[in-house]
Amino acid sequence: MMTLMMFGAVQLGVAAACVVILVPMGMAGWHLSRNKMLFFSGALFITLAVCVHLTPYFPAVSDFVTSVSSVVVFDHRISCINMVNDITWDLKRNASFHGDIKKNSSLSLEFYEKHWDWTKSPKIEACDFQKLSNYDASNLLNGSWVVVAGDSQARLFTLSLLNLILGSESDRMQSIRGDLFKRHSDYSILLDEIGMKLDFVWAPYVVNLTNLMMNYKTKKSYPDVMVMGAGLWHMLHVTNASDYEFALRVLKSSVVSLLPFAPELGMNGPVTGSVSIKSPHMFWLGMPVLINGMLNTGEKRAKMSDAMWHAYDRALGDSKILRQLGGPLVLLDIQTLTWNCGPQCTDDGMHYDGAIYEAAAQIMLNALLIESHQRL
Ligand SMILES: *[C@@H]1O[C@H](CO)[C@@H](O)[C@H](O)[C@H]1NC(C)=O
Ligand SMILES: *[C@@H]1O[C@H](CO)[C@@H](O)[C@H](O)[C@H]1NC(C)=O
Ligand SMILES: *[C@@H]1O[C@H](CO)[C@@H](O)[C@H](O)[C@H]1NC(C)=O
Ligand SMILES: *[C@@H]1O[C@H](CO)[C@@H](O)[C@H](O)[C@H]1NC(C)=O
Ligand SMILES: *[C@@H]1O[C@H](CO)[C@@H](O)[C@H](O)[C@H]1NC(C)=O
Repeated sequence: MMTLMMFGAVQLGVAAACVVILVPMGMAGWHLSRNKMLFFSGALFITLAVCVHLTPYFPAVSDFVTSVSSVVVFDHRISCINMVNDITWDLKRNASFHGDIKKNSSLSLEFYEKHWDWTKSPKIEACDFQKLSNYDASNLLNGSWVVVAGDSQARLFTLSLLNLILGSESDRMQSIRGDLFKRHSDYSILLDEIGMKLDFVWAPYVVNLTNLMMNYKTKKSYPDVMVMGAGLWHMLHVTNASDYEFALRVLKSSVVSLLPFAPELGMNGPVTGSVSIKSPHMFWLGMPVLINGMLNTGEKRAKMSDAMWHAYDRALGDSKILRQLGGPLVLLDIQTLTWNCGPQCTDDGMHYDGAIYEAAAQIMLNALLIESHQRL
């Protein structure tokens, strides 16, 4: 009896300590910048883990813990963002295909059916990634301004995103496909039914992306979601990885200056509680794996060598523009997607099957889901 009471008193003491530690940390956290938030969330996680283990002994704490546990989900979200690109492919011989791909290589993409899903592992399953239906995607993007800027990879990504929202077989999609594929041009569409504006901006070089960011900054008008990626043109026409890295660093600083912790933006949004300031969600559309022997011109095969590709890939890492290296942009990992799907998934060693960009669009939407919950 006596020991039980003492035990209860100890629990009470520890629980009180939890409250004392957690509340100020939580409050401080919400008013700090994102990086500091990340630091705090680790500390919170440990503190809360202690509390959670004690709650069965002390019911009054459980309500409290439930209300704070949303803070801990933060930690979970960071690791989920890091795993969102973890896709596995399943290629099956297309039973209804009877063409001869030796005679007509543009049919080769039909030879395999490509199915993909997030890798099955307990950690990834805990993130609950899902392929969004067109209804869910519309809901998520309702009322937003989405910009996709870059080279032909970005154009293919735009196409997949529109396919998802409008349905790939719809009449509207048929006509969009024609307009979107006018070479080297911009494209813009307003989807009235969900109040969504989507711009594709032709920006083959990183410097074009930087100029675009500067434009938004001058106009003080920013998209809600921005996906960008460029590199292949630079590799073919400039063929200098350190110059590419330099361009990426310049882009990085223009992106950072646009984000909400920049003083300029503080005036647009509510300043109290920095989390509530609306900031654009930014993504980097990675470069595909190039299959040198399949590239369709001698110039491409000579300049876009495997060694050059690796140098460009290193330049991307070294520029620190990606979130996983402390930068502002979340990677849509086209490199891993294309590597895992393999040569069966491309007919020119550079542009890949629609399934790749469909997966990339779903990855972006899942990352958006994770990020937007974080802001609620
Ligand atoms: C190859 O296949 C494509 C797509 O089905 C078709 O448009 C083209 O005419 C074919 N080419 C030849 C030489 O048969
Ligand atoms: C399978 O082959 C048929 C006939 O060529 C084609 O219409 C269909 O698109 C192919 N399926 C895939 C997934 O490529
Ligand atoms: C989009 O949002 C508006 C109002 O915010 C709502 O009326 C409409 O039903 C939504 N549409 C979809 C497809 O979610
Ligand atoms: C992109 O930048 C290059 C190099 O500055 C320039 O020549 C080209 O006109 C730009 N293209 C677009 C579409 O802005
Ligand atoms: C590559 O670009 C860098 C930075 O712009 C420049 O200093 C260097 O001279 C270039 N190298 C070559 C071989 O052109």
